[in-house]
Amino acid sequence: MLTKEQNDRLTKVGPGTPMGELMRRYWQPIAAYAELSENPTKAIRLLGEDLVLFKDRSGTLGLLEASCAHRRVHLLYGIPEDNGLRCPYHGWLYDSSGQCLEMPAEAPESTFPSRVQLKAYPVEELGGLVFAYLGPKPVPLVPRWGPFVREGVRDIGWAIVGCNWLQVQENSLDPMHGEFLHRYFSNYVLERQGFLKDRGTLAHGRDYVVAEDADKIEGGWRDPAKIAHHTKVGFTIFEHGILKHRLIQGEDEATSPSWRIGHPILIPNYEHGGGGGGFQIRVPMDDTHTYYIWYNVRDAVDHEDAHQAPEDIPVYRTPMPGVDENGIPIWELFDNNSGQDHMAWQSQGPVTQRFLEKLGQSDVGVIMFRRLLNEQMDIVEDGGDPMNVFRDPAKNQEIILHFDGEEGGAANNEDVYGYGGSRSTKVSTGSAGKYSPIGRERARLAGSPIPPTPRPFARDIPTNSPG
Ligand code: FES
Ligand SMILES: [Fe+2]
Repeated sequence: MLTKEQNDRLTKVGPGTPMGELMRRYWQPIAAYAELSENPTKAIRLLGEDLVLFKDRSGTLGLLEASCAHRRVHLLYGIPEDNGLRCPYHGWLYDSSGQCLEMPAEAPESTFPSRVQLKAYPVEELGGLVFAYLGPKPVPLVPRWGPFVREGVRDIGWAIVGCNWLQVQENSLDPMHGEFLHRYFSNYVLERQGFLKDRGTLAHGRDYVVAEDADKIEGGWRDPAKIAHHTKVGFTIFEHGILKHRLIQGEDEATSPSWRIGHPILIPNYEHGGGGGGFQIRVPMDDTHTYYIWYNVRDAVDHEDAHQAPEDIPVYRTPMPGVDENGIPIWELFDNNSGQDHMAWQSQGPVTQRFLEKLGQSDVGVIMFRRLLNEQMDIVEDGGDPMNVFRDPAKNQEIILHFDGEEGGAANNEDVYGYGGSRSTKVSTGSAGKYSPIGRERARLAGSPIPPTPRPFARDIPTNSPG
């Protein structure tokens, strides 16, 4: 159990806080580049700061504080010009360094513009994502993790989760929840929807499978002892974060990639392995909101272009679970792993009250991750570079995760973590991959069944803590 102070240290991300300073050592993804083609400005909340991202008419990206220096109009409504962004109210023009260039209502000879500067942060595009750096100089390199640079077909999903980033990230260090949340509760959700017979499962397969013995599922699912359990879990610290190793009943140590290779969780806020070899990234917007990204990269199949331009990488929004206008859970949003996870995180409250937790031995991965984060915050406080800050271009050509002699880990291994093989033409009904436009288009062309898209947005689910 943590004290309240220890919980604050891990969760508060504003300027000057220990976690806020750690997070400011990293380039954080803030948008899909393709979004800016349709809308050249985007309001950004990042690490407690309100900002506006823009692409001007020459293609230059900029990230400025949100309010115009003159009389505080929000620059989301700004007009992109050839050399910057112009405030809609009185026309002050700012370049991507935040320098004011023009004040149309002032005298032409006025030197006032040269003395006005908005706060501005560096931004860079990589792999179709726009990254921002809010930390001190010298600015490190944008890490060229394998999934961002390897050949493949990409799409980018996103959602805003109404809670602190850490309870989201801790989920990745907690394999045990899969047994219950993604099986027992999942079967309950399917029962509510009338789909239990088709999609229920007792196994801890990595996806919902059509039940081979539907009667067994129907008659037996309400017995937690029948769920396939983890027989072994292990966590090891490696140079980029923590490797999670897991073995499920019926799996074999020698052949199970999830035991042998492990599942990498990168410091501070990446999980590797979603969508056939991409990332799930949990970016702190502020203390109580998280920008959630599914970065999917798959091997190309026949009709696909493995060299998409950044503006051609499709972006989609994933619905969040919640309740309808009568306060009833919208079960169709809970029938997949991500929907179930999001329900759990949001219902832990805006910031999990870790000083009230009762942790068991099965929480060892969560405890290890908190310790590792604390060590990284100490390093920053001592003036050093924490894990995964890269400054040497020679070491940043392509950062390949290399485990146990397996080049590339999940990225190059079909179906290693079971999120649907990277060449799969089926849409997994039990994962958020079912919302991915690339996956759905593949399935359409292959004649595979495509799950319906549910009602897109729900009200926030009620939370268990007051504010
Ligand atoms: S408020 Fe922006 S120019 Fe006046
Ligand atoms: Fe989960």
